[in-house]
Amino acid sequence: MAGTEKITYILALGSNVGDRPGNLSRAIAAIGRFAEIQKQTRILETWPILIRAQGKFLNQGILLVSEKNPHELLAAIQEVEREVGRVKRIKNGPREIDIDIIWCSAGKVETRDLRIPHPHNRAREWVRQIMRDLKGDITDAETGLAWSDITGKSIMNVNDFLKKKTAGEKITVVTCYDHAFARLVARTSIDAILVGDSLGNVIQGGANTLAVTVDDMVYHGRIVKRGAPQAFTIVDMPFMSYQASVEDALKNAGRIIKETGADAVKLEGGVEVAPQIRALVQSGIPVMGHLGLTPQSLLAFGGYKVQGKSESGADAIMAGAKAIEAAGVFGMVLEMVPATLAEKISKNLSVPTIGIGAGDKTDGQVLVITDLLGLDPDFAPRFVRKYADLSKSVLGALENYAADVRQGKFPSEKESFS
Ligand code: KIV
Repeated sequence: MAGTEKITYILALGSNVGDRPGNLSRAIAAIGRFAEIQKQTRILETWPILIRAQGKFLNQGILLVSEKNPHELLAAIQEVEREVGRVKRIKNGPREIDIDIIWCSAGKVETRDLRIPHPHNRAREWVRQIMRDLKGDITDAETGLAWSDITGKSIMNVNDFLKKKTAGEKITVVTCYDHAFARLVARTSIDAILVGDSLGNVIQGGANTLAVTVDDMVYHGRIVKRGAPQAFTIVDMPFMSYQASVEDALKNAGRIIKETGADAVKLEGGVEVAPQIRALVQSGIPVMGHLGLTPQSLLAFGGYKVQGKSESGADAIMAGAKAIEAAGVFGMVLEMVPATLAEKISKNLSVPTIGIGAGDKTDGQVLVITDLLGLDPDFAPRFVRKYADLSKSVLGALENYAADVRQGKFPSEKESFS
């Protein structure tokens, strides 16, 4: 990027400490000394996103033109932050002034200290609003970037599942159980997170999912949603939280939705749970179904076995799929069924099917995150593809750390305080 070439930038400013409007206007005046400010938005008041226990922000966006390249502009706005009196506190904590470069006409910047479009664009509706206010719909002739590149992918809602099926777009789902992984998933283009009761195996080390409680699901659902507030999140209803009665289903699903902030619940079963699904959907709770190898019926199945291989088994699964579709599910997981049956069900339904061990003709796929990342060296079922071999990296890193400590190589002087 040449120094003399003028670049258009959009900056997002925020303040939640001290004289908030004054901090914004002092910052904008200071930026005006080295850049040509062409437009500014009105001031918006917003809740903090990453650390909620702090005051509300005043936010404002500005569109400017400058000869500075992105790194020069970053240095200049950091100087402005100091001038306005920003005090160093914890990351994402309260701040007198915060200035981010959220877009520039020079395209993408991906360096250690600067990323444009800003990675938080997606999580902040007010950022998308100032982008729209300042630049209109950026299907960006200047940078060639799509709106979704700039603002992050659009956030799914329950209707998008059907839209994706109709458009022939595959739906991508991954399980997630904690905040750290949720934050990573939120930075990808994956459509939805499932807080699966597979956490009974994966997190709790159980032989199956039967011991998982509603409290467990609430705990994990909440910490996942905290890490990925903008991701469409489905939380599993655990064993015996809905099977016995419609009342149980309403009480427990209501609790999960209220206490986790999830967007939907998932429950297992066909014809026999249709009344529960109908009641939940009528109460405003979106439900995803789950058919085939439903792990909560493991004892009745006599083990983890492919379901629907016989004609009667296949017919029962098809009948279940139709019953739960009629009851109002917005989609359903098909687990460990023959690919031909999954294809037939997918073609027969208007709602999307999400397969796991169900072949490639379902409308989407779901995998358990620890399986696809290869975190468990001892688990390799046929239907899992390992997209990474993290167990190797983790073991290597831990051994390197231990060796460095034993040999006095960690910490170094640079990693110590004087
Ligand atoms: O609990 C879970 O993780 C699931 C998926 C395997 C679909 O239900």
